Amino acid sequence: MARTVFLGTGHYLPDKVVTNADLAKMFDTSDEWIVQRTGIKERRYVDFEKEPMGSSELGARAARAALADAGVSKDEVDLIIYGTLSPDKAFPGDGVLIQAKLDVPAGVPALDVRNQCSGFLYMLSVADAFIKAGTYKRVLVIGAETHSTGIEFADRGRDVTVIFGDGGAAALLGPGDDDAERGVLSVHLHADGRYWQELHLSYPSSAEMPRATPEKVAAGAHWPQMNGRTVFKHAVSRMPEAVHEALDANGLSTSDIKLLIPHQANQRITEMVQRRLELRDDQVFSNIAKYGNTTAASIPLALDEAVKEGRISRGDLVCLVAFGSGFTWGSALIRW
Ligand code: COA
Repeated sequence: MARTVFLGTGHYLPDKVVTNADLAKMFDTSDEWIVQRTGIKERRYVDFEKEPMGSSELGARAARAALADAGVSKDEVDLIIYGTLSPDKAFPGDGVLIQAKLDVPAGVPALDVRNQCSGFLYMLSVADAFIKAGTYKRVLVIGAETHSTGIEFADRGRDVTVIFGDGGAAALLGPGDDDAERGVLSVHLHADGRYWQELHLSYPSSAEMPRATPEKVAAGAHWPQMNGRTVFKHAVSRMPEAVHEALDANGLSTSDIKLLIPHQANQRITEMVQRRLELRDDQVFSNIAKYGNTTAASIPLALDEAVKEGRISRGDLVCLVAFGSGFTWGSALIRW
């Protein structure tokens, strides 16, 4: 059976660079605090004065780049899978907005995935299953976030605000050659909903009547809430666990990994995961200093940069690993 291969990757980032010093002008924080705790130096935000756009536009631009990279026309796409926690609209799912923006033919399905920082792995598992089953041959997988319109630029929200950045990234997936060894070897997914309260945005809510009131918005109920220490503690155990699970399932070991691409949550999390897996520096990819945490876009953005920087060549073993809100986590192994 043909394995799923990456036919192309691409990303789109807004031009506006926001440094830690820029944030320090808006609320009580410092470059030193942010770099020491997160490794983040700057992030990109959509420039609402120059060119307003939401996540679906970032995602559509990233998708065009991935299609161009693959040399495949939008008319050949037969499934769109889109992940975001910052959709333009409550409904419909933004997958159809991306379909319309790209002018992907009518009738092609568009699936929306809601798994936050693990979104790319959840999307990859769905794409992989459809491709292996022979149902679809050109699957466009996209992750995009506009966090900058959903975070609080005040002391109260500073723990969350300094971490996140805007961006979009995409991959075009399809079946490889029948006899080739390359492609997606495995995807492992996990969740534990008992921890949803550790990182969430719960307002407006269909579980409340009315869904939104000016009083609750004035009190800040519509901002994300995070218990950073608990998230950190779980991330640094779940991510190494998921990498070992992937390696064990394929009879491989950490020394076989050419490049680990972790979800870019926080440089301290990445470093602890690296230490726990006993990986060398050259085996671990990081771009969080430049972009912060771009959630559903984080892994495909890192993957695209790693490919374009020549960090991955044909035949290399690439491991993807993620952890995030839900909690959700998972891993994937790819023979590039
Ligand atoms: N700038 C300056 N000070 C800040 C701050 C900021 N942006 N955010 C929080 N602080 C303050 C706190 O108010 C607290 O002050 P206090 O001691 O006077 O009460 C102090 O810094 C320590 O806060 P704490 O939350 O205990 O810090 P921490 O060492 O746990 O670091 C995180 C906070 C968020 C950086 C850290 O918990 C973390 O990285 N967690 C993982 C988050 C993550 O990756 N989320 C995405 C997952 S996909």
